[in-house]
Amino acid sequence: MMRLLTNWLLTAAAGSLACALIAPAPLLARGESTARPWADRALSPQARANALLAAMTQDEKLAIVHGLFPPNMKPRPSDVPLSAGYFPPNERLGIPALRETDASLGIAAAHAPFRDATALPSGLAQAASFDPAIAEAGGAMIGREARQSGFNILLAGGVNLTREPRNGRNFEYMGEDPLLAGTMAGHAIKGIQSQNIASTIKHFALNAQETGRMVLDARLDAVALRQSDLLAFEKAIEIGAPASVMCSYNKINGTYACENPAMLGILKGDWGYAGWVMSDWGAVHSTVGAANAGLDQESGEQLDREVFFGAPLTEAVARGAVSQTRLDDMVRRILYGLFATGVMDHPVSPGPIDLVGDGQVALRAAEAGIVLLKNDRDLLPLSASARRIAVIGSHANRGVLSGGGSSQVIPQGSFRFDPPKDAPSWGAGMIFHPSSPRAAMRALAPAARIAFAEGDDVASAVASARAADVAVVFVHQWTSEAMDAPLALSDGQDALVAAVAAANPRTIVVLENGGPVLMPWLDRVGAVVEAWYPGSRGGEAIANVLFGRVDPSGRLPMTFPASLDQVPNPALPGADVRRPEGDTPDNALPGFAVSYPEGVDVGYRWYARKGLKPLFPFGYGLSYSRYRYGNASADPRTMSVRFTVTNTGRRQGAETAQVYATPPGAAPRLVGWAKLRLAPGESRSATATIDPRLLASFDEGEKRWKIGAGTYRISVVRWQGGMGANLSLVLPASTWAADASHPITGRR
Ligand code: BGC
Repeated sequence: MMRLLTNWLLTAAAGSLACALIAPAPLLARGESTARPWADRALSPQARANALLAAMTQDEKLAIVHGLFPPNMKPRPSDVPLSAGYFPPNERLGIPALRETDASLGIAAAHAPFRDATALPSGLAQAASFDPAIAEAGGAMIGREARQSGFNILLAGGVNLTREPRNGRNFEYMGEDPLLAGTMAGHAIKGIQSQNIASTIKHFALNAQETGRMVLDARLDAVALRQSDLLAFEKAIEIGAPASVMCSYNKINGTYACENPAMLGILKGDWGYAGWVMSDWGAVHSTVGAANAGLDQESGEQLDREVFFGAPLTEAVARGAVSQTRLDDMVRRILYGLFATGVMDHPVSPGPIDLVGDGQVALRAAEAGIVLLKNDRDLLPLSASARRIAVIGSHANRGVLSGGGSSQVIPQGSFRFDPPKDAPSWGAGMIFHPSSPRAAMRALAPAARIAFAEGDDVASAVASARAADVAVVFVHQWTSEAMDAPLALSDGQDALVAAVAAANPRTIVVLENGGPVLMPWLDRVGAVVEAWYPGSRGGEAIANVLFGRVDPSGRLPMTFPASLDQVPNPALPGADVRRPEGDTPDNALPGFAVSYPEGVDVGYRWYARKGLKPLFPFGYGLSYSRYRYGNASADPRTMSVRFTVTNTGRRQGAETAQVYATPPGAAPRLVGWAKLRLAPGESRSATATIDPRLLASFDEGEKRWKIGAGTYRISVVRWQGGMGANLSLVLPASTWAADASHPITGRR
């Protein structure tokens, strides 16, 4: 073994690229003793982190707490790829270079040209699958591609709740419900880390809009926060155990997230989180304040006003303003995350990517997330014998749209259009992934004549629709990081749909969008298919749903408002803040406060509380089959709900039965679901086990969860507010500490 290590050191000295990518990992057998005790895999990750920490010099410790943004490295060594983050290796101790890339939806290429990579459908599409296995398989796929692309830390796990439907980054996240978002993000992270790759969860917390994201002050009371946005993080961290938590740009209740003792205290104290907190890029504003509040690592240091965790931290530790114990804790947490995920033991080495196999993962995810919003008189599925189909708009003859910003995946063959003028200057533009819906439809209906008309020429689109048996209009809404989007389709697409629907009543609309849009034409079209940004194999997924190869089993992970005045902040906060003249960086713009009238009642809970009827409710989505719900019962001892669903239709289908609980005097909340694949006539029973926190309120003073005695209304339904089975759950009072399990069920 010593020989192996020595060999490694020799190669490292030669400084070859291969060596830089193949980390200097201590490859030891279980229990073997060594001069590098941290290499012993029989020890716990914590013990290994302690042993390695003990061997580090002060300079080595100070080096690992701040890292580089490669696009701004001058010169940039040839073995450092153009990605979001880089930390040089510590060759003396065998700590690999930390190579970070954005990866919520695949290995991103926002800073680099096209690459071999597979794009999953958007986070919202994944959440719409209501299937943790889909999220986990997607994560594992990204983890594999990370390894094959030479990255060992993935900036993934976006779980910010949809408080603002216009948030330009909603597509990266998992929707508005803490249970759904936390569960899906947790499984995505678990999948990534199953490949011995470290993942983040982000952006901690309340980064609910992009307008003014670096300067806004998100104001929400501690209890509401704990029971909503933080609960999503807590849940995802429990499931996924991410190596790192990325703190967000914004302030929370007056203090920047990355130097916020209250927030980071909840994370590390109440939740006992043992990994490290890394900053978002350009989100650090101080040295002593941030370090003492709990920030462990400054990311992309060139993007901050100064390298706060460079020389100023060295100096702050020397004069005792930041204690040595705290610096050691920062480093130990980083090392713990690297050991716990296997990054230290399983060096990444670039190699070929299985684009075909990985494409299957993306295809399954896209299919599972497509939501059928309307289907009058069973216009869908299309029959394979359809003769004349008019496909219209959104470059559906070439590909499918994707969302912009740091998460941008650009597989080979993608194509680009200029984004709107207010798009971030650093983005890659409007990227379409090379998966043509029209080509996929042709493959499924070879006998049909499938014409294509671009949507910008309404007259020829109308002519094409008129000459066809059925018209399929593709419409799109491009959204991106660093900007928010109106709740509407742009560029006259509403008028296009209306004109096509007037020409052909058998009009189907397919949406490729980052978040909800208003649909002024809804009553005039026959069917609406919500395809989100469907990823690398999106065209095929859409075709498979249109032709009924796949039952549309996605359900909305967020409420679609019927009008702007239904949303809690009808005027987008900060939209009226004037940019100063000149070239002001985003983190020096004038700040403003954002309040959240919905408080704890994010999304559908706000609609329920206000008695508002949305365009489509949370959880909504049709199937090509029909279902009956029955035999529902609730067990107060185990806090679980059992029910049966029967497929009463004539087709194989997948139904997502959703369980909502309404505590006395409060709004309903999702407490469980079961996605059941059912043959015609088949019945299956399922049990949803309720996480007690979903029924509780949090007492900030006592730091305890409390469930009040009373009758909790339970409904097992097709979507929020929909039809199904209703029953009651009578619960005794119970209370438990923030870091403990529930006294009756024994669950957290
Ligand atoms: C984004 C993060 C991202 C980071 C690195 C930031 O602008 O908010 O989500 O991980 O850049 O690219």
